[in-house]
Amino acid sequence: MHSRNLGDLSVSAVGFGAMVLSPGVYGKINDERAAAALSHALDAGVTMVDTADGYGGGHNETLVGRVIADRRDQVVVATKFGFLLPTDAEPHPFPVGFTFTFGELAVNGEPRFVRRYAEASLQRLGTDRIDLYYPHFPDPQVPIEDTVGAVAELVEDGLVRHIGLSNVTVDHLRRALGIHPIAAVQIEWSMWKPIEPDLLALCREHGVGIVAWSPLGAGFLAGTVTDVAADDFRQNLPRFAPDNLGTNVDRFEPIRRIAAELTITPAQLALAWLLHQDPRVVPIPGSRTPAHIDENLAAADVDLGADILERIDQELAEITPLGETLL
Ligand SMILES: NC(=O)c1ccc[n+]([C@@H]2O[C@H](COP(=O)([O-])OP(=O)(O)OC[C@H]3O[C@@H](n4cnc5c(N)ncnc54)[C@H](OP(=O)(O)O)[C@@H]3O)[C@@H](O)[C@H]2O)c1
Repeated sequence: MHSRNLGDLSVSAVGFGAMVLSPGVYGKINDERAAAALSHALDAGVTMVDTADGYGGGHNETLVGRVIADRRDQVVVATKFGFLLPTDAEPHPFPVGFTFTFGELAVNGEPRFVRRYAEASLQRLGTDRIDLYYPHFPDPQVPIEDTVGAVAELVEDGLVRHIGLSNVTVDHLRRALGIHPIAAVQIEWSMWKPIEPDLLALCREHGVGIVAWSPLGAGFLAGTVTDVAADDFRQNLPRFAPDNLGTNVDRFEPIRRIAAELTITPAQLALAWLLHQDPRVVPIPGSRTPAHIDENLAAADVDLGADILERIDQELAEITPLGETLL
């Protein structure tokens, strides 16, 4: 597996998004299957695991901690905070482009809670340090400088090694860089969700890595999703709504055709395309299926020529997916 740098942190070119391993995200899953999937990814060469305090209400970090316990030093543990609120933290709404069935997204990034978030995550992860720590969303009611300043204290104390930002604007990143070096920005980026050019430019200017979440469009770009079950969180996502999904599948047919011509899978094309956008990009696909994990990791070996990249960009410029995204 090739490696890439997020700031000074070296990680496998393709990471592992662990959100898929908790029940209630992509439907049902038991811990045995979840642990086997993550172990498989690590055996196959993945070194960065992405989790969050909010995934499964803490379940996800506990599961990750259990799986990495016997190889902690070989794994870069990336986690996020601000979702699993202490009882004395007021929820601060974070507006997104649509309404979730469970209500609105809410976070709390007040500095006084940051050490408590970290200590709780460390306990669930069964470790003494978090390698990459992100506020999950910038708190609209708290200056990003204050939240990042509190994480910087954890770096000084050795609880955290590197600081990341998730779901931020270029303004957030610029301000945070004034407080502490930022190793990575985690943002939704895929063939159906472009990155903001100014954010990409600022990351390049400051050597900030880019961790691409939902790099397969929550599975859509793999070309196999035709409907979503009642217990699948994608029920919330407008691009998967029955009225939109079929149209979106049709609109992405030219992209799937390119994958077929290259004799790679649509998922591999989606990941290889991201990896070719910039050497700082690290996609974090999630999967419960060992064959899919192998397929996704093999995307790091796919070489897309300039002519193919140009053709993909021309096709993508013609495609407007139906439905809002989170940000
Ligand atoms: N910072 C944030 O706010 C944020 C938000 C969302 C996600 N994330 C992070 O990003 C990670 C990945 O995002 P995601 O889970 O939303 O989306 P994703 O990785 O784009 O898609 C995951 C879905 O794709 C399917 N899949 C994976 N590989 C496949 C393949 N080769 N062929 C067919 N299907 C395949 C998986 O099903 P199988 O299990 O069947 O393979 C799963 O349903 C998360 O785990 C999380 O760590 C961060």
